[in-house]
Amino acid sequence: MKIIRFENTSSTNTLARELIDRGVCESTLLVAKSQEGGKGQLGRVFSSPEGGLYFSLLLSPKLKPALLPLVTLVTGVACVQQLESILDKPAFLKWPNDVYVQGKKISGILCESVIRGNAENTYIIIGVGMNINNVVTDFPSELHPIVTTVKEVTNQEIELDAFLEELVTRIIANVRELHINPDVLLDQWQNHDYLFRKEVVYTATNLTIRGVGQGISSDGSYQIVDLEGKQHSIVGGQLRLG
Ligand code: BTN
Repeated sequence: MKIIRFENTSSTNTLARELIDRGVCESTLLVAKSQEGGKGQLGRVFSSPEGGLYFSLLLSPKLKPALLPLVTLVTGVACVQQLESILDKPAFLKWPNDVYVQGKKISGILCESVIRGNAENTYIIIGVGMNINNVVTDFPSELHPIVTTVKEVTNQEIELDAFLEELVTRIIANVRELHINPDVLLDQWQNHDYLFRKEVVYTATNLTIRGVGQGISSDGSYQIVDLEGKQHSIVGGQLRLG
């Protein structure tokens, strides 16, 4: 796999999209030591101070369109497995794209798909940001109560390159496995569900639902049951602890 490294850059996801626009179709890994314009879900900024891991994996996996929303979820499974291989604490997944340890966000995932020509030529950009050898005070003050890092949890720094190699290997294996056995991966996701049976609030344009998390469905949507007992299948918007 081709690997392109940057010291400080805007956003590895944006750079991956530029590669696709220039006709690059081989699998490529773009890695940055820090980002100035890190992109998060729903157009948010993803704070990316030095010491973290920020990368975008450009793949062309020829997945059926119905499986594309699951790429974020199986990347999350790879992230919790990799984190649990070095932490003595469990890691959790908050649907659809956040990784939590000890009740705080440690990683975020932003997957984007780009179709060039027909659906066969769909590229996916798997963007992962993980707080590793940085500390909470490296982040803007409004994030201090809600983020954590591997160093905060373990009091130790780890070797970023070895960690990156293992994590990317896990992500690629999970995306391959999606073709064969998506249900196994969805079960693994469900075993790490941060919101399962917890009170949640769902917000989307002109809509707020209070309810209880019920887990994911095979299409990758999230199920909640509202206070009147009605089931809702969530596909966009924002879900948080209530
Ligand atoms: C989120 O938490 O909302 C998703 C964050 C995704 C951040 C990663 S860092 C590497 C890649 N480049 C970006 O600009 N975003 C993703």
